[in-house]
Amino acid sequence: MDASSSSFKHHTSSTEPLIKPDSSTTTMTILITGGTGKTGLALAHLLHAANHNVLIATRKGVAPEPFKAITFDWSDHSTFENPFKADAHIDRVYLIAPTVMEPLVDMKPFIDLAITKGVNRFVLVTATQADKGGPIYGKVHEYLVDIGVDYAVLRPTWFIENFGSYAYSIRENNEIVSVTKNGRIPLIGVDDIAQAAFDALVAEKSPNTDYYVIGPELWSYDEVAAAFTEILGRKITHRHITHEEQVALFKMFLPAEYAVLLAMIEARIADGVEEAIVGDPKAIVGKVKLRDYIKANKKLWMKD
Ligand SMILES: NC(=O)c1ccc[n+]([C@@H]2O[C@H](COP(=O)([O-])OP(=O)(O)OC[C@H]3O[C@@H](n4cnc5c(N)ncnc54)[C@H](OP(=O)(O)O)[C@@H]3O)[C@@H](O)[C@H]2O)c1
Repeated sequence: MDASSSSFKHHTSSTEPLIKPDSSTTTMTILITGGTGKTGLALAHLLHAANHNVLIATRKGVAPEPFKAITFDWSDHSTFENPFKADAHIDRVYLIAPTVMEPLVDMKPFIDLAITKGVNRFVLVTATQADKGGPIYGKVHEYLVDIGVDYAVLRPTWFIENFGSYAYSIRENNEIVSVTKNGRIPLIGVDDIAQAAFDALVAEKSPNTDYYVIGPELWSYDEVAAAFTEILGRKITHRHITHEEQVALFKMFLPAEYAVLLAMIEARIADGVEEAIVGDPKAIVGKVKLRDYIKANKKLWMKD
């Protein structure tokens, strides 16, 4: 099936955005944890272009031009004061959690400290399947709600850019592997997540709720493989693998327990859990389309 036929419109015929935009700028600073990462750096550029002050938190303390960075490591609480020593005007924080089973252990002391330093809004990225109070990110979401601070939680579905992060298997083996079977996903682009984060951070009125963040089209991995085949001009297939094989792949770059959980979450795509989000009144629907991303980044998957 041609995935373009499965495009869907925003859940409402109204053009009213879920988060009301705010065009004003302030002399305050927005701290971006994960600011060297995919969504964080895209967000930094959006904020910079709109004349907001930005400070990037990163383990190496270095960020691309034109951004100022400080050394910050979730696993080293002695670095938590660094942002506030570097800039006394931080009032909002973008939160990318560390890749651990209990991120609240490290995030709670930082959130508490940040509030004492004048931070009055947090925008946290979790995931579609991370319900408030549930494992991993759900506990951080719950903490923000419980302490009564202004916040927004963005719950993106699976990223389009994952096909770039895992380019190797397409480039070298001409295949995408997954446990998703024929399940479909409203794949989301990083730029759309960054835009949702921008809106939630700068909106005059804090959202104080959570939103799904999904893309404009539904895709099964068979359909994704067909799109790669068409655009790259060589046959790319979707190989259906077992849970054990998927866990082994995730373990190559994730802690073991986390890899098992992520493989279980990926398997739920086959049950339709991601497709079911389409049309949800709390879904922010982005614009980035998979085909455009593949066309713009073709060299990632080309053999020499
Ligand atoms: N990929 C998906 O399909 C998907 C789907 C739903 C939700 N998500 C969630 O989206 C988030 C990922 O966002 P992203 O793609 O923008 O990030 P990313 O590109 O994976 O980059 C991770 C960022 O976190 C920073 N980081 C890693 N470990 C750190 C530590 N110990 N202390 C401080 N900073 C640390 C890295 O900075 P340095 O290396 O410079 O320190 C980097 O900036 C994750 O929470 C993920 O679970 C992803």
